[in-house]
Amino acid sequence: MSSDTPATSPQPSANQLATKAQAWSALFSEPMSDLVKRYTSSVFFDKRMWKADITGSLAHAEMLAAQGVIAQADYEAIQKGMAQIQEEIESGAFEWQLDLEDVHLNIEARLTALVGDAGKRLHTGRSRNDQVATDVRLWLRDEIDLIAGLLNELQLSLVEVAEQNVDVILPGFTHLQVAQPVSFGHHMLAYVEMFKRDAERMLDVRKRVNVLPLGSAALAGTTYPLDRERVARTLGMEGVCQNSLDGVSDRDFAIEFSAAASLVMVHISRLSEELIVWMSQNFGFIKIADRFTTGSSIMPQKKNPDVPELARGKTGRVVGHLMGLITLMKGQPLAYNKDNQEDKEPLFDTVDTLKDTLRIFAEMIGGQVNPATGTKEGGITVNAANMRAAALKGYATATDLADYLVKKGLPFRDAHETVAHAVKLATQKGVDLSELPLEELQSFNPNVQADVFEVLSLEGSLNARNTLGGTAPAQVRAQLQRHRARLG
Ligand code: ARG
Repeated sequence: MSSDTPATSPQPSANQLATKAQAWSALFSEPMSDLVKRYTSSVFFDKRMWKADITGSLAHAEMLAAQGVIAQADYEAIQKGMAQIQEEIESGAFEWQLDLEDVHLNIEARLTALVGDAGKRLHTGRSRNDQVATDVRLWLRDEIDLIAGLLNELQLSLVEVAEQNVDVILPGFTHLQVAQPVSFGHHMLAYVEMFKRDAERMLDVRKRVNVLPLGSAALAGTTYPLDRERVARTLGMEGVCQNSLDGVSDRDFAIEFSAAASLVMVHISRLSEELIVWMSQNFGFIKIADRFTTGSSIMPQKKNPDVPELARGKTGRVVGHLMGLITLMKGQPLAYNKDNQEDKEPLFDTVDTLKDTLRIFAEMIGGQVNPATGTKEGGITVNAANMRAAALKGYATATDLADYLVKKGLPFRDAHETVAHAVKLATQKGVDLSELPLEELQSFNPNVQADVFEVLSLEGSLNARNTLGGTAPAQVRAQLQRHRARLG
């Protein structure tokens, strides 16, 4: 507090509060230096929680009035003041002040300037410790709902591409070596499974986000007869934090969210890596629309997959935030410590990065609705011929020949060895297994018949993998139905 305010002043005017924000000031012999103010203030990043702050305050004030802790008229004045503040913030007229440290003190000071004593009564039975924990939870809960929606959009894009490509065959890889042919639809649905789990994880995290700290006060609870369940109900929360020390200091929910977000980004990053490889000239499996690529300033022929590359890079950033948040908590004694103010920027950036990435991927994969035709356009373009040609290289159906010999009575290990000899011969001749004459195949095992060529075909190979979760087109169609039924 500046020295022009008498240390004994019992009640600073609303104005003083508004400009000094030193509600604890009587004790202090010198003002905070500008450097320390800048270092400790959070208003320029936590102001984005203003709506949650107002919502939480109104729920608290409503309950205080219902419990008779403040007068109904005070609650009404608070409502009125908050409505004006909301308008000021939305129109950009609100003056955020560094001096007022954070979003909570900025809004409270403005409220008091607008409605006087009623504003000063708002903080009864509350501390910024339970207030900020409540705000972060309310804010994050709404963001999780948006993210779950975006995860569904992305799944729908992938499902659409899968539907159009059930019968398109590409080589499946293990160790990035050609392994067995798979349906491109099946490949897309692998990512749908990942993003489906991500959406479930987000909704599970939401349950622990959506719990009310308010009423924990500074750390020990409060002497006022608060009805915490009432506040929780007003805010649509699923319960109240059952221990005040934990209530003000717990940030597990933020860490859990970051972990779930990191996994989303890891899935995005794996998909990015595939898109990048598939669109390289050596593969030529897909194209992504030009608006997601950039040119080179020196090599005129280039189209670079900047969006998937950046997403792969941003994965590191989101995983980094998880490390930051988890490390933030590891040394903290109970209960609230100012360290916790550092939870916001990583959390905000994680949410922003995740939402942008999901939006852009849903569009890059599935395209955009053309309002003129009502259909989606501009998603990835699949080059089925190149995929097929690649699947025909590398003896992708060698396992099918081994399985064929097993059905003719050979033990699998022997069949495996026999096929290795056949592959060796085919490699020497520079042909595919299916291009070896029947007699030559019979020289490895006399039971080989002409029906082997169906088995050695890409379609035969796929159709044969007709177990649940397998790549046979019949299975892929069944999976598509399941996903459609749940996603719409
Ligand atoms: N800006 C603070 C934060 O983000 C609000 C809580 C401050 N509490 C306190 N006791 N200093 O954590």
